[in-house]
Amino acid sequence: MVLKTWEFFFKFHHLAGLFIVSFVTAALFLSQDINYWNVIKNQVIINEVQPAEYDNSSAVCDFLSGKWVYDNISYPLYKERQCSFMEDGFACEKYGRKDLKYQHWRWQPRNCDLPRFNGTAFLEKIRGKKMLFVGDSLNRNQWVSLLCMIESSLPPSSNKSLILQGNLYYFHDIEYNATIGLYWSPFLVESNCDDVWHHRIKGRVIRVEAIEKHAKHWNDADILIFNSYAWWLDPTLKILWGSFGSSNAIYKIATKTRRYEKALATWSDWLEININRTKTKLFFMSRSPYTFRGDKTGHCYNRSEPIFFKEGYLMSATKHGMMRVAESTIEKLEKRGVKVEYLRITDMSEYRRDAHPSIYRKFYSPVTEENKKDPTTYSDCLHWCLPGVPDIWNQILYAYIMKQ
Ligand SMILES: *[C@@H]1O[C@H](CO)[C@@H](O)[C@H](O)[C@H]1NC(C)=O
Ligand SMILES: *[C@@H]1O[C@H](CO)[C@@H](O)[C@H](O)[C@H]1NC(C)=O
Ligand SMILES: *[C@@H]1O[C@H](CO)[C@@H](O)[C@H](O)[C@H]1NC(C)=O
Ligand SMILES: *[C@@H]1O[C@H](CO)[C@@H](O)[C@H](O)[C@H]1NC(C)=O
Ligand SMILES: *[C@@H]1O[C@H](CO)[C@@H](O)[C@H](O)[C@H]1NC(C)=O
Ligand SMILES: *[C@@H]1O[C@H](CO)[C@@H](O)[C@H](O)[C@H]1NC(C)=O
Ligand SMILES: *[C@@H]1O[C@H](CO)[C@@H](O)[C@H](O)[C@H]1NC(C)=O
Repeated sequence: MVLKTWEFFFKFHHLAGLFIVSFVTAALFLSQDINYWNVIKNQVIINEVQPAEYDNSSAVCDFLSGKWVYDNISYPLYKERQCSFMEDGFACEKYGRKDLKYQHWRWQPRNCDLPRFNGTAFLEKIRGKKMLFVGDSLNRNQWVSLLCMIESSLPPSSNKSLILQGNLYYFHDIEYNATIGLYWSPFLVESNCDDVWHHRIKGRVIRVEAIEKHAKHWNDADILIFNSYAWWLDPTLKILWGSFGSSNAIYKIATKTRRYEKALATWSDWLEININRTKTKLFFMSRSPYTFRGDKTGHCYNRSEPIFFKEGYLMSATKHGMMRVAESTIEKLEKRGVKVEYLRITDMSEYRRDAHPSIYRKFYSPVTEENKKDPTTYSDCLHWCLPGVPDIWNQILYAYIMKQ
C-alpha cells in the first residue's frame, strides 16, 4: 500500500516535472529574466497608491473585502506532503522553508464568513460536469490548490492520475464523473508560447484576433475560470497580423493596455457567440499581485509576516490601467447578456508578501553563485506557496459555485 503510493508519487512527479520545466520557468520572472523583472517591478511601484480605509457603513457581505486573521486551528486545509497533486514550484516546505506561519492565515470577509470548504459537497455539486481553469501558471497554482483541497474527500483508493491532452491537463474522478482541468493559454489568444512543453521563447508574439484554436476546447465546459495578466507585461511582446509563418505577415508593437484590450475583446466576442448562457458559469480571476503595498522593496525574500497597516478593514485604492481594461471588458460583456463573475483577489492577496515561494521552490534553470549572493535577484515573488493564498481564492470560488 505504502509502496504503491510512493510508486505513483514518483511517476507523477517525474511526469509533472517534465511538464513544468517549460511551463513554470517561462513564467518570466526567474533567474534569466532578472532585468525584465525590474521593469515590471518599477512600473507597479510607480502606480502604487496608499490604501484607503474601508467604507464599512454597508452591511452587505462582500467576500473580497476583509482582513487576514492568524488561525492555526483551522488552517492549513491540507498538508503539503499529503497532496498527490503538489508541484515542486509550489512546495515551499519541501524546498527548505522553515517558517510555516504563511500556512495559517484565514481570510475574514467583513460582515460575513466564507463557507467552510467541503470537498464531498463540491464534488457532488460538479457531478457529471467539466470545470476548466484557462490561462497561465497562476491559474495552474490555483488549480493544484483546488485538487489538494478536494483530495482529502476522495477515497484513498481513487485514481489520482492527471491526463495531458494537447494544452489540457486534467483530473477526472470516475465516481463523480467530474473533470477539473487546466488549459494552458497564457494570453488566452493564440501565441508562439502556447506549447505546454516548449514555450521559453525569446521574442514572444501573439495573434490578437485569433482564439478559436484554444477556445474550441472550452465549448463544452460547465464552469470556466479564466486568468491572463503577467505575460502581457513583457515590453517586447509583438502583435502579428496574419498567420505564423506566412510571408505577408505584419508585426506590430502596441502599448500594454492596447494589446490587452484587443485580446480581451476577441475573448469576449468568442464568449458572446459560443457560450451557452444557461449552462456555463464564467469566472475571471483578477491580477495576482507580485509586489506589495507599503513594502517599497517590492520583493518577498525573507518575509514571514503579511503586511498590516492598521486595525480594521482596508480597501484598495490601487488603479492599474490593465486591471481597468479587464474590468470594463467584463462590464461591457454583461451588458451584452454574458455574465462573468470577476473575482478581484488582487487587493486581499497584496498583503501576503510572506506567502510566495521566494527561494524555496525548485528552479528549473540554474541559480548562479552571483544570484545566491543576493537572493532577491532570483526569488519567485509571483507564484504562491501551497497550502496558502490560492486556497482562499478557491474558497471564494467555492462559495460562488455552491450558491448557484
Ligand atoms: C497557535 O498559535 C498560538 C499563538 O501564536 C500559539 O500559542 C499556539 O501554540 C499555536 N498552536 C499550535 C497548535 O501551533
Ligand atoms: C460535507 O458534505 C457532505 C455532502 O453534502 C455531507 O454529508 C457532510 O456532512 C459534509 N461534511 C461536513 C464536515 O460538513
Ligand atoms: C459524464 O459526464 C459527461 C458530461 O461531462 C457526460 O457526457 C457523460 O455521459 C457522463 N458519463 C456518465 C457515465 O454518467
Ligand atoms: C488511472 O487513470 C488513468 C487515466 O484514465 C489510467 O491511464 C490508469 O490506468 C488508471 N490507473 C488505475 C490504477 O486504474
Ligand atoms: C444550453 O444548456 C441548457 C442547459 O444545459 C440546455 O437545456 C440547452 O439546450 C442548451 N442550449 C443550447 C442552444 O445548446
Ligand atoms: C531576514 O530578516 C530578518 C528580520 O527582518 C533579519 O534580521 C535577517 O538578517 C534577514 N535575513 C537575511 C538572510 O536577509
Ligand atoms: C467602521 O470601522 C471602524 C474601524 O474599524 C470602527 O471604528 C467604526 O465603528 C466602524 N463603523 C461602523 C458603522 O461599523
